[in-house]
Amino acid sequence: MTGNLLQLSMREPFGVGGRRLCYEHPYEKSLCVKVLRTDVDRTVRLKNSSAWKNRIGRIYDNNEHERCELDKLYAKHGDVLARHFPKHYGYIDTDLGPGLVLDLMRDDDGEISMSLREWITVGRSLTDLGSAFQQFGEFLSDYAIVTRDLLDHNLVAVKHADQSLRLVMIDGIGNPAFVPIASWIKPVARMRIKRKLERAWARMLALQERGGISTEILNGSSWGQGLRYNKSINARLRKQR
Ligand SMILES: Nc1ncnc2c1ncn2[C@@H]1O[C@H](COP(=O)(O)OP(=O)(O)O)[C@@H](O)[C@H]1O
Ligand SMILES: [Mg+2]
Repeated sequence: MTGNLLQLSMREPFGVGGRRLCYEHPYEKSLCVKVLRTDVDRTVRLKNSSAWKNRIGRIYDNNEHERCELDKLYAKHGDVLARHFPKHYGYIDTDLGPGLVLDLMRDDDGEISMSLREWITVGRSLTDLGSAFQQFGEFLSDYAIVTRDLLDHNLVAVKHADQSLRLVMIDGIGNPAFVPIASWIKPVARMRIKRKLERAWARMLALQERGGISTEILNGSSWGQGLRYNKSINARLRKQR
């Protein structure tokens, strides 16, 4: 008996983050379902971090945090936010636990959009991302939206029919400060945002210099490194079930 559980465990996740498995929604092409990882590989990452982080890691629910942060942002800014952030549609029961349903970013041709990390790794030029990155930065700044660090595996580049690109932040949402001063004072927010954008661009340039994520790194990694349908990590995950 499977009841009304959405069956995901026999499917291939398109994305494996450090904390979550991301699946295409079986019945709705424009949506994805994210469930928390509970596998052994995930705990390897926790073991490598400090003891207190370890404890936080066990109770931290990435989905719930993201759901709350997206609710706050959409309540404040409205639908204009959908240009650069996914919407969520609440939870659905799956055979891998509660799944958060969110917009799945796809290019005009239907392919799941690439993360910026994959973009760099497959040898695409960062220069081509320049204006999309700038537009994304202006959006954050105009609306004074402070996020966590802008990591290349948490940003995807959506390609439109006219070949233009739009960046969407699919993870790392929310102001990480304990006392979120920048959420109250716009000039402070804008300073933080500027710094985060500069650092993100510098990190991506450095990754490009190194030639992206190497096969060695990928094969030894406990997560998908922001690359779609990472066969080696998916095969390892399957063995653990
Ligand atoms: N809504 C989405 N649209 C397109 N790709 C996505 C989306 N959400 C996640 N991904 C891909 O899946 C990977 C892992 O997802 P993520 O939400 O970052 O997991 P985690 O919270 O574990 O880091 C991302 O690096 C990205 O490549
Ligand atoms: Mg992530």
